[in-house]
Amino acid sequence: MTQAAAAVNIADEAAYAAAVQTAVSASAAYYGDGDSPLDDDAFDRLVRAIAAYERAHPGRTLPESPTGKVAGGAVVGDVPHTVPMLSLDNAFSADELASWAAGLERRLGRPVERWSVEPKLDGLAISARYRDGRLVQLVTRGDGAAGEDVSHGIDSVLGLPRRLESPVTVEVRGEILMTTAQFEAATAARVEAGGTPFANPRSAAAGSLRAQDRPYKVEMTFFGYGALPLSADAGFGAGTDEPTAERLRTLPHSEIMDVVRAWGVQTTAATPVAGTTAGTVEEVQRRVEEIAALRGTLEFGIDGIVVKADAALDQQQAGFSSRAPRWAIAYKLPAVEKITKLLAVEWNVGRTGIIAPRAVLEPVKVDGVEITYATLHNAGDIERRGLMIGDSVMVHRAGDVIPRVEAPVVHLRTGAETPIEIPSSCPNCGDTIDDSQKRWRCVKGRACTAVTSIRYAVGRDQLDIEGLGEKIIDQLVSAGLITDFADLFTLTREQILGLERMGETSTDNLLAAIEAAKGKPLNKVFCALGVRGTGRSMSRRIARHFATMDEIRAADAEAFQEVDGIGPEKAPVLVAELEELAPLIGKLVAAGVNMTEPGATTPAERAAVAQAAAEAAEAAGADPEEAAAAATAGDGPLAGMSVVVTGSMTGPLADLSRNEMNELVERAGGKASSSVSAKTALLVAGEKAGSKKAKAEKLGVRVITPEEFADLVADHL
Ligand code: IVH
Repeated sequence: MTQAAAAVNIADEAAYAAAVQTAVSASAAYYGDGDSPLDDDAFDRLVRAIAAYERAHPGRTLPESPTGKVAGGAVVGDVPHTVPMLSLDNAFSADELASWAAGLERRLGRPVERWSVEPKLDGLAISARYRDGRLVQLVTRGDGAAGEDVSHGIDSVLGLPRRLESPVTVEVRGEILMTTAQFEAATAARVEAGGTPFANPRSAAAGSLRAQDRPYKVEMTFFGYGALPLSADAGFGAGTDEPTAERLRTLPHSEIMDVVRAWGVQTTAATPVAGTTAGTVEEVQRRVEEIAALRGTLEFGIDGIVVKADAALDQQQAGFSSRAPRWAIAYKLPAVEKITKLLAVEWNVGRTGIIAPRAVLEPVKVDGVEITYATLHNAGDIERRGLMIGDSVMVHRAGDVIPRVEAPVVHLRTGAETPIEIPSSCPNCGDTIDDSQKRWRCVKGRACTAVTSIRYAVGRDQLDIEGLGEKIIDQLVSAGLITDFADLFTLTREQILGLERMGETSTDNLLAAIEAAKGKPLNKVFCALGVRGTGRSMSRRIARHFATMDEIRAADAEAFQEVDGIGPEKAPVLVAELEELAPLIGKLVAAGVNMTEPGATTPAERAAVAQAAAEAAEAAGADPEEAAAAATAGDGPLAGMSVVVTGSMTGPLADLSRNEMNELVERAGGKASSSVSAKTALLVAGEKAGSKKAKAEKLGVRVITPEEFADLVADHL
């Protein structure tokens, strides 16, 4: 899980000074109102570059440099902490985590007794002070030595009881954040009150907690991650239950968390990413991966995993550096939020008539994936967030979750932004919009897109139902005889005869064409569904990979990514689309439409064949990997070849459309492609072949005529 972030390079002293300046003001904004102009990733890279420059030029470190300081030295407060509130050192890969753990064990001169592994909550650090079990003060981390009193926010925070179950005098430390729902509500309330939207949950929590006298109420959440006795020198005096508080000094971290929870404070224990303990670094690593995988499903943001030595003795002996404890580390996860530009908004009408806005973005990499589109939910949402074209926007994507625009980064506006045009009639058919619900719909509902999608489904490259033109489809839809193309299979002779200009012969021909369509291979049936992001060639690849509709429907986003050309952005969209199409697919199955791809094998069948081949090879003393690969490699004269077709076909192939040529290539075991590159194995160049032929010749790609190609694939024609 190493993160390859583009490095920032600082060339000279002037660039260094400018970088320090940028980091200091970004950090002041981040820990202040939460309105940093840099996303976390950009900030981290900047600070790492500053640190690298300082290492290379000892003695030139500027006093205001953020390196080595808690909160980048940005914040000061006037409430001293009894025990400093420190930062955490970071690890960015499994290797870095392992070498940190090894270093700690070297320092201790023995293995760490036990590890504790918990999520790194993405909010603000808070110290909640309890006297005799009553909550008396909330203090921010500040510069680590002293923080700001934010006790006025006590009533807005869930998870921190006003009274503990036990009359202890303690300090509970933890993180205040906003859940997704709390962030949505806070944004709505703030915009309602005439304010600008918050950029993301973290800055919403930071801004809201520090603000006083806001005209609207917001709700936040606290999760505890530690507790210590609140000593007399904080001016609290000895508590009535001092022994219990004092016992915190000797308990392992995991048990402290149990105690804190028993007092009534919220911890992550009840969430899917509850803190756990681990005996070995391998176990730690497994839990790290589990937590990372759950990230997208959580109601709150996490930006890493905190690994701690659990035992009090291990912690005491490891000690602290000026900035962070040596017994804990933050394993940082890749940023799931980036700032980019909103270029345009598209309005798409879905199969059910839902009108959904989609953001077109300046491409940005989030968590390793390039994002160009993100959901904007609905029109109300756009207004609530106050978005404008040209805005810098915070884009969020975690795991398989469909990317979404979180909010505009309002303080980055230049004045050149323009309003987003909200459609006043259905962008597909021009009819009225039903805006009575949050999600707008065309008043025609499914019928709005029915004619277009049925026409597509029966087209030549899909079910190829001849004699079913737009006029007939229109009539069938308007008469309520069909709502989707699956209904075609249950039409009766009388129903078709009842349509305008349909005689006996054309009716019988149409019925025969419909009947014949039931036997089409899976790739055509799948293509007919009109799944977003899949055309003819992608449908063929999907059908060949999975072999049956059942396998396709059972596939999750990860399984889809095994298909050539499906990446992490497309895969979850496919899963969601197929879920939406389940009723239609069900109707097709019930009508007896073929749901298998001739000649294809399922992934499980291929795995079994590969395993059997590997075992046989091993027994015979041959290379099992090679045998497994050979056993599952496609066959046919074009096996493993990338083939491009260009120009007009002649000879036996003269009548084939480009799509039919591509199908032929794939039947013969090859991969059809539309552009020539170094990877191209063969170019079929027909008459008037132009630039593709020239390029192929330049690259030394084999070029053949349509006639030669016809010979080569004769068995598959
Ligand atoms: S333990 C002595 N545990 O991360 C330091 N911190 O980057 C003890 N944080 O200031 C910190 N989740 O605000 C700890 N499970 C967790 C955490 C956590 C989030 C924050 C905390 C800290 C910052 C350091």
